[in-house]
Order: sequence, then C-alpha cells, then structure tokens
Amino acid sequence: MVFAAILAGGIGKRLNCQEPKQFLKIHGIPILAHSIEKFVRVDEFKKIIISSPKEYINETQELVNNYFPLDKRLIVIEGGVERRDTILNSIDYALKNGANDDSVLATHDAARIFASPDLIKKSIKYAQKYGAASPVIPATDVIFESKNGSKLDFVPLRENLYHSQTPQTFNIKKYLKIYNDLEFDEIEKLDEAMVLFNMKDEYVHLFVGEKSNFKITRPFDVKIAETMFND
Ligand code: CTP
Repeated sequence: MVFAAILAGGIGKRLNCQEPKQFLKIHGIPILAHSIEKFVRVDEFKKIIISSPKEYINETQELVNNYFPLDKRLIVIEGGVERRDTILNSIDYALKNGANDDSVLATHDAARIFASPDLIKKSIKYAQKYGAASPVIPATDVIFESKNGSKLDFVPLRENLYHSQTPQTFNIKKYLKIYNDLEFDEIEKLDEAMVLFNMKDEYVHLFVGEKSNFKITRPFDVKIAETMFND
C-alpha cells in the first residue's frame, strides 16, 4: 500500500509573505495546488495526505475542494511543530487507514512544485525495493563547512556530496522502529533527512533527481519558478 504525505505544515518565514507560502500563487495557481497536481497523476497512491498549519486547515481544505473536487484520495490533516512532527502525523493517519508492514510513505515538500510524476514513481519503486529512497543532485559547487559562518573549518570532497530532494520515500514500519529507538535529544537534533539517514543500516537508495525540483524558499526562488512557466 502506498501513501503520500505532502508536507505543507510550515509557514515559510524565509519567503516573508503574509500567508504561509503554500498559498502563494505561481503562474496564477497556489504552490500547494501545483505540488498536489503532480501527486494525483500517480495512480499508486491509496491516500494523499496533505498537512496544514492548524489555523489554516479550512483554507487548505477549500483549496483541495476547489482544485481537486473529484479526487477522493486527498485528505487534509493538521501538521506538527517541526517538519518531522508533520511526518509523524502523516504516518499516524496512514497507520489508522490500512498501512501494513509493506506500506511506504512518499514524503514531499509542498514547496517543490516541479517534481515530475515519473520522479515520484521512481521514489516509490526504490523504497519498495530497498526500504528507503531519496532523489539527489550531485553537488556542483565546492561546499565549505564553517561552524560560525565566518571561519572556514573544512572542505568536504565535492565528489562525495549530493543535495537531497524529495519525495523521500520509506517503509513506514521501519522508519517508526528507528525513530522510536532514538533518544529525545537525538530527535531534537534531527531534521527529516537525518531520520532517513538513520535508516542507513537498512540502506537508503539514492537516485538522480531533477534540477527543476528545487524548493521554493526565498523570494529569488519565486522569480525562478515564474520564469519556468514562461519558457
Ligand atoms: N513543513 C511542515 N511542517 C512544519 C514545517 C515545515 O510540513 N512544521 C513543510 C513546509 O510546509 C514545506 C516543507 O516542510 O513545504 C519544507 O520546509 P521549508 O521549506 O523549510 O518550509 P517552511 O518551514 O514553511 O519555511 P521556513 O523555514 O522559511 O519557515
């Protein structure tokens, strides 16, 4: 059984708009509707779980009703404080709605509006085969490590570095087992990609992502996204 979690429980501080960034329109359509549209084109999903900040649940549900009135797989839930909590809420929903030992969850940043259905299907396929999978882009720039932002501490070898993307897909039961074994302070330090990293003993399969699958995070990203529709 295959579930999707479109993560839209954040507010997009770095974009600095009045409403959470998922409601910002790109090419006349809200960011969230763009990303949902890619997922509804994937038949494999039993449920597509869309999260929302608590105070925007009604607005999110309205968006779903307006843009996708016929797709009964779409469900809106409340997000969590951190992105990892939103993932846990989505897992909880999946478990209460038929997830079994083989079920996988494809977690996707709502702010990545250009993920192709083909990329989503690959992520599902690899997670079913290996337990967990993530698209990545090999690093182009040399990446510096600095603990205080001004002194260069370390230069990791570029050929070993990759930018992670979503959808990151994993076997739900394996993910939970690893998560539940973490100490509280370990969980606090984690973002979702690192929870996936903790699955490395299970083997997290990396595969080539799509350059266009960037995350709309800052005002410049909005300009790039708009430009992509004008090509
Ligand atoms: N997200 C979520 N629940 C949270 C925080 C984030 O579902 N508690 C989602 C966001 O809605 C977004 C995705 O995770 O689609 C990627 O996170 P990011 O781009 O960092 O989004 P925001 O947290 O909204 O942005 P910012 O960090 O600028 O506030």
